Amino acid sequence: MARLEGKIAIVTGAGSRADGIGNGRAAAIVFAREGATVLACDRDMEAVTGTQRMIEEEGGICEVFVGDVTSFSDNERMVQTALDKWGRVDILHNNVGIEGAGTILDTDEDAWDRVMDVNCKSMFLASKAAVPAMIAAGGGSIINVSSISAIRPRGLTPYTTSKGAVLALSRAMAIDHAAEGIRVNAVLPGPVYTPHVWAGGMTDELRARRKNASPLKKEGTAWDVAYAALFFASDESRWVTGVEMCVDGGVTISSPAR
Ligand SMILES: NC(=O)c1ccc[n+]([C@@H]2O[C@H](COP(=O)([O-])OP(=O)(O)OC[C@H]3O[C@@H](n4cnc5c(N)ncnc54)[C@H](O)[C@@H]3O)[C@@H](O)[C@H]2O)c1
Repeated sequence: MARLEGKIAIVTGAGSRADGIGNGRAAAIVFAREGATVLACDRDMEAVTGTQRMIEEEGGICEVFVGDVTSFSDNERMVQTALDKWGRVDILHNNVGIEGAGTILDTDEDAWDRVMDVNCKSMFLASKAAVPAMIAAGGGSIINVSSISAIRPRGLTPYTTSKGAVLALSRAMAIDHAAEGIRVNAVLPGPVYTPHVWAGGMTDELRARRKNASPLKKEGTAWDVAYAALFFASDESRWVTGVEMCVDGGVTISSPAR
């Protein structure tokens, strides 16, 4: 039997540029391959219908929801869409995130608020909308995408702070909703080569440096992140909650060269 057979999964930030594979698109595809029915959500209609097309070409089931996860009413409509179509929600993959570079001195208040809203408050809002449906279904799994930047700061202070808050939120929710059968875990990707990263204008040299930063000396991809999410989404992790999994080729355990 497929690992997510019969499950209903919501994936936020499930779009990606052109034919590229970002973390949300990869998770949506992997979940569908494992038998889940997927509601792919993104604010970008073209990007998310691209994901739907890819899933349907493989014979999977995917519907699209276009909305902004920083809006509670959009999150409520997102969950209601899944309930109207399929009657339940089992998995919420909170993947949306944006960059936030600079120190506190480089960052104005609006930029700070924006990064905190998109990267952290959105996960609170999407979860607040989805948890009642999970309780009604007898449990569920929430996966929050953080970043190794949460635990290895490097000049991205608004981003680091927002992703650190995602870890605290995940642990708090794991405790709050354990008795209701809802597990909450976090995935911390390292320097993954996604369309978002290459669209930022990455040079071959920087790409090689990111790759060689990991002890494994391999380039991470969105598929690597998606397979970690798949474990948390599936019942194979039924006794795992409040966990933080780095998917980074060993970057966070390595020390600087001496
Ligand atoms: N790429 C990396 O190296 C890396 C490393 C660590 C963590 N991450 C995290 O992984 C996640 C996905 O990263 P990615 O590189 O695949 O990004 P991406 O930009 O390719 O994909 C994110 C998607 O989210 C959508 N989105 C953005 N704001 C939204 C909003 N308010 N409402 C709805 N949709 C919205 C975008 O349209 C886009 O399709 C993010 O949380 C990011 O912080 C990425």
